[in-house]
Amino acid sequence: MHFHKKAERERIGKGRLLLHGTQTVSSEGHLVIGGVDAVELAHEFGTPLYVYDTALIRERIRQFKTAFAAYKELEWQVAYASKAFSTIAMIQLVNEFGLSLDVVSGGELYTALKAGFPAENIHFHGNNKSDDELVLALDAKIGIDIVDNFYELERLEELCASRDQKMEILLRVTPGVEAHTHEFIMTGHDDTKFGFNLDNGMADRAVLLALKAPHLILKGVHCHIGSQIFETEGFVRAIRIIFSYAEKWKDAYGFTMRVLNVGGGFGIKYTEEDLPLPLSKYIDSIVAAVCEESRARSLSIPAIWIEPGRSIIGESGTTLYTVGASKNIPGIRKYVAVDGGMADNIRPALYQAHYAAICANRAKDVADQSVTIAGKCCENGDVLIKESRLPESCRSGDILAVLCTGAYGYSMASHYNRLPNPAVVFVENGEADLVVRRETYDDLISNDLPLKTYSAH
Ligand code: LLP
Repeated sequence: MHFHKKAERERIGKGRLLLHGTQTVSSEGHLVIGGVDAVELAHEFGTPLYVYDTALIRERIRQFKTAFAAYKELEWQVAYASKAFSTIAMIQLVNEFGLSLDVVSGGELYTALKAGFPAENIHFHGNNKSDDELVLALDAKIGIDIVDNFYELERLEELCASRDQKMEILLRVTPGVEAHTHEFIMTGHDDTKFGFNLDNGMADRAVLLALKAPHLILKGVHCHIGSQIFETEGFVRAIRIIFSYAEKWKDAYGFTMRVLNVGGGFGIKYTEEDLPLPLSKYIDSIVAAVCEESRARSLSIPAIWIEPGRSIIGESGTTLYTVGASKNIPGIRKYVAVDGGMADNIRPALYQAHYAAICANRAKDVADQSVTIAGKCCENGDVLIKESRLPESCRSGDILAVLCTGAYGYSMASHYNRLPNPAVVFVENGEADLVVRRETYDDLISNDLPLKTYSAH
C-alpha cells in the first residue's frame, strides 16, 4: 500500500478534511489509521466501530511528560481521567507510561484494578461516592481520595476509623472561575454541585475538619474549572485564587498545601474552528503561576497534578459507520444516515458538539456537497453532524469516518433503541487489536428477567 503522506495531507487539509496523528490516505483513496486501511477495518470488525490510533495516544502522553520534565525541581503527576475512555486495554496502555489514574466511580475503579493498575497511583473522584465505593477504594488501598463535600468527609473518616486505616485526601474546591466552555461541562464557577466553595467559607471549614480528622491526611487541594478550554487564563486565575486561601490556611491553621491538582480540560481540535494550544503551553502557564504564587507568598512549591482526559484520548479516536439511507429535501437539506448515532456519540445531541467526517473509501474525492449526517435512533435530534462536507459520489454502503471521537464517545454510549455497543479496535504499525468486542443482542438481554406471572396468549 502506498501512502501519499505529506503532500496528500496538505492537499486534503486544505479542504474541510482534518487528519489526526498517523491518519493518512492510501493511493486508492482510503483513510488509513495506524497503517491499517479503515475500510478493511470496517469489513473485518463491522460498524459502527471505534478505532484508536495508539501511537497518537502515546504521543500525547509523552507531550505532557516532556512538558513537566523541563522543570527539574518540580514534583508533578499526570493522572489520566479515565471517564474519557475507560477499558482494560486503555488503562494498561496508560500504566506503561507510569501515569496516575483518575477514577470517578466504583465501575471505573474496578476496571482499573482488573487491568492491574497500581492502586497507589489511583485518585478517586466523585461528588456522591457510596459507602460501597469508598470501601472498594479502602480495600484496594488506592493512592488518594478527592473529597468533594462534608458528607464524604464525615463518611470517609468514620469508615477509616472503623477499619483503623488512614487515607490521604485532597479537598476539591470551587474557585469561582468560569471557563469558556459549554455550560454543562463548566465546573469551576460558584453554582456547581462539585466541591467546597472558596468564597463562602465552605472550603475553610472543610480544611479545618479534615485537619482534625484523625484518619485523614490532608495533602492539598484540587480544582477542575471545566473542559475543552483553549486558553490558560482560567487555570492561572484559579491558581491565584487558591493560593490566596492556601496562605490564609497556613497562617490560621498551620496547613501546608503539598499538592495542588488543577484538573483537566485542555482543549482539542474537533474541527478546523478549534484552536487548542500546544499542551506544553498549558503546563508552562500552570507551572509559572504556581511558582510565582508560592514565591510571592513564601510558601513551598506544591507538587502539581493534572488530570487530562480528552487531550490524551480525544483526537486518537475515529468512529467508522456504514452509510445507509439518505433523504434529499429539495431546498432544505440532504440527510445521510449511518448505522450508529446518539447511542455511540451523545455529544452532538447533548452539547451541540461539532465533528468533522470523511468518506473513508473516497477520501480523495472532493467533498463537494453539504449534507447532514443523521444517526439511526428514533429521535429527530439524532444528528451527528449538521453541516458536513462529503463527496457527491458518497453512497449507501460507503464507510463514513467521524473524526476525533475518542473522548466521551464510548464512555457515554447508551443502549438507546437497544443498539448494541460497538467494538473498539486499537491500531498501530499496520496491526489491529480488538480490545472491546461488539455487544450481541444476547448481551443486551443478558440481565433481563422474565415476568414472574407471565402467561402467553
Ligand atoms: N478532572 C475532573 C475532576 C473532571 O471532572 C474532568 C472531566 C476531568 C478531569 C477531565 O477533563 P478533560 O481533560 O477530559 O476535559 N462529557 C463531557 C465532558 C465532561 C467532563 C467531566 N469532567 C464531554 O463529552 O465533553
